Amino acid sequence: MVNTEILPYNEQNIKKAAEIIKNGGIVGMPTETVYGLAANALDEKAVSAIFTAKGRPQDNPLIVHISDISMLSPLVKEIPDIAKRLADRFWGGPLTMIFPKSDIIPNVTSGGLDTVAVRMPQSKAARDLISACGFPIAAPSANLSGSPSPTTAEHVFRDMNGRIPLIIDDGASSCGVESTVICFKDNTIHILRPGGVTAEMLSEYGEVVIDKAVCAKPAENERVLSPGMKYRHYSPKAEVYIVDAHGDDFIDYCNSHTNGNTIALGAGVEEQGIFIDYGISGDIQAQRLFSLLREADDINAETVFVEIPSKDGIGLAVYNRLLRAAGFRIVGGKNDKTD
Ligand code: TXA
Ligand code: MG
Repeated sequence: MVNTEILPYNEQNIKKAAEIIKNGGIVGMPTETVYGLAANALDEKAVSAIFTAKGRPQDNPLIVHISDISMLSPLVKEIPDIAKRLADRFWGGPLTMIFPKSDIIPNVTSGGLDTVAVRMPQSKAARDLISACGFPIAAPSANLSGSPSPTTAEHVFRDMNGRIPLIIDDGASSCGVESTVICFKDNTIHILRPGGVTAEMLSEYGEVVIDKAVCAKPAENERVLSPGMKYRHYSPKAEVYIVDAHGDDFIDYCNSHTNGNTIALGAGVEEQGIFIDYGISGDIQAQRLFSLLREADDINAETVFVEIPSKDGIGLAVYNRLLRAAGFRIVGGKNDKTD
């Protein structure tokens, strides 16, 4: 067990964090999407330690984070033109792109794949930390594998206390859901995981295809393009259900189906009884979602109902994470099979 410190983002603490990472250690790193567990992406041992700290399956690859576009070319075999244009527009920001990997990327980092996922965050704290290290940083979300991603230093502490020496605190992540992950397939921009850079935004740069695993459960043994898609994810201990109803229909459904300690997250709902407002717009829902799922655990909720979000814009990311938190259970609508 190590003692886990939380220190605010400033120059001195970034130096301290960089020293730990340079010595092969792991630090909790703020980013604009969610907090990450940062280690040297090129150091096999350091990366292996991330998998151990998270309890993450070895075949689920990590995203490599850079602080400047000049750090990209040594990591990859080639950079398609479309990737250059997207980097110009969306880096630093919540966009991760998949490239054929160069030999300096260890197999543990890429989960044994011959590709590597790269992202340049917008967060100044994250970029300062990467620059202070002087090498690319592998960073998965800083939660224990399977639980909701952390959007505050406190969330990271809850999951990682005793497992890592330091968390840099830069307040709540502004985006709140993980980055959009894309690859380039058949001359299209193929979305493997929706996030803050939306399908609508990407469609200005080429044809966008949303992978079928984004909104549906991959079949048993199906080969998914992004290994993270096949694992149960983002789940609090409570049973989560997406409720396909709005307004009074949503309220009636939740009131008549309470099961044990129940909470209901509604879009713009009046907060009373079991009801908690999780925001009307997709941006706010994205910011609040993981935090609310964690709070459900804090109050020992047994059942969590969530009003189905719009799939437009960042709403698609909210829907994608909720589907996994809910184990793909959608109730209360016309196609309700579980009722
Ligand atoms: O916003 C984010 O992306 C955060 C912050 C910390 O940067 N990081 C994050 O990492 O969400 P993680 O490890 O929790 O999720 C990475 C996702 C996984 O679903 C993984 O399967 C996918 O990216 N991925 C990574 N490398 C890949 C590759 N070479 N091919 C396909 N999918 C890949
Ligand atoms: Mg994750």
